[in-house]
Amino acid sequence: MSDIRKPGAWRARSPISEVDPPEHGGVRAALQRILSPLVVKSWRERFAARAEQVADDALARGEIDGVADITESFVLSVFPEVLGVSVPPERIKQTGELNFNQLGPNNARLAAAMERTSPIMDWYAQVLQREHMLPGGFGEKIYLAEDAGELAAGTAPLHVRSFFRAGVDTTMAGIGSTLMYLSRHPDQLDAVKADPGKIKSAFEEALRLEAPAQVMFRVTTRDVELGGVRLRADTKVGYHMGAANRDPRQWDDPDRFDIRRQTIGVHRSFGVGAHVCIGQMIARAEAETILGALLRRVKAIEPAGTPRWRPVNTLRTLDTLPLRLVPA
Ligand code: HEM
Repeated sequence: MSDIRKPGAWRARSPISEVDPPEHGGVRAALQRILSPLVVKSWRERFAARAEQVADDALARGEIDGVADITESFVLSVFPEVLGVSVPPERIKQTGELNFNQLGPNNARLAAAMERTSPIMDWYAQVLQREHMLPGGFGEKIYLAEDAGELAAGTAPLHVRSFFRAGVDTTMAGIGSTLMYLSRHPDQLDAVKADPGKIKSAFEEALRLEAPAQVMFRVTTRDVELGGVRLRADTKVGYHMGAANRDPRQWDDPDRFDIRRQTIGVHRSFGVGAHVCIGQMIARAEAETILGALLRRVKAIEPAGTPRWRPVNTLRTLDTLPLRLVPA
């Protein structure tokens, strides 16, 4: 596996997820100021308008692919808009797949993704530059924070890239898995419809079972003991959230989808510690608005075929999810 700190790394380090404390604390605080609860609230309103439209279109179709017609149709339109970067959906999908393949082993799947995306890499670097930021978006605010000295000079495009890398595919994966589980558990779908407050629980429980980011890594900076294992300095350690989330010491019958669990939301899908997901409230806002809009319109969501997972290193995401929507 590659080490981002070493010469020949395939890209520059992320200025947030690949920097250590104490530097990381200052970066995180600056971004947290931009992502204030007020900002997220205003985004939620924009999500709602698009969610209504996506849900109407899906209902009109009746038989849908939950991935193309719900998750992609929604997230690929709202997220770039709040980020304030105009990127065609097909390219977001391509670069997202590349990113999550790159986080994993240097295998044939990664080679194929790199070959597919090599013609657009110059464009990708360009689209993250200041002149492409849309007014009022998060990307513009990142550049302004750099101007104000709150973020290190030259890091703004890399921050925009980090948000793109972290925020799109993960959220689509989580919403897709939630739809899949609700379609398989009509009793729990009914419970969520009866109490929309439970949409949160359904999303969290699907995130537990199908952690979008299956594994993240750390590298030891010195000799250290971890869980009784001695590790030398410079050892890459995988933190397998997908496995942790099904630990039978933590969850009864861990493979069961159950929105009534006492431990709902205790999963590790957003990570833990200093680097815990900074965008989790945005992912939740997206999930709640699109699932809410859909559930208000349906009596039932039925499986209409076998879902297929998309093979991407380190990312657990559906490729297709055939569903039948029964109108309310
Ligand atoms: C369901 C959706 C999401 C999942 C499952 C998810 C998962 C994660 C995980 C596991 C980490 C920790 C990585 C590590 O430990 O190295 C993380 C960090 C991060 N996430 Fe998310 N994420 C989601 C949505 C988002 C969204 C919507 C955004 C942007 C608005 C975002 C931005 C970030 C950033 C910038 C970091 C780095 C934080 C840091 O290093 O301090 N994520 N995410």
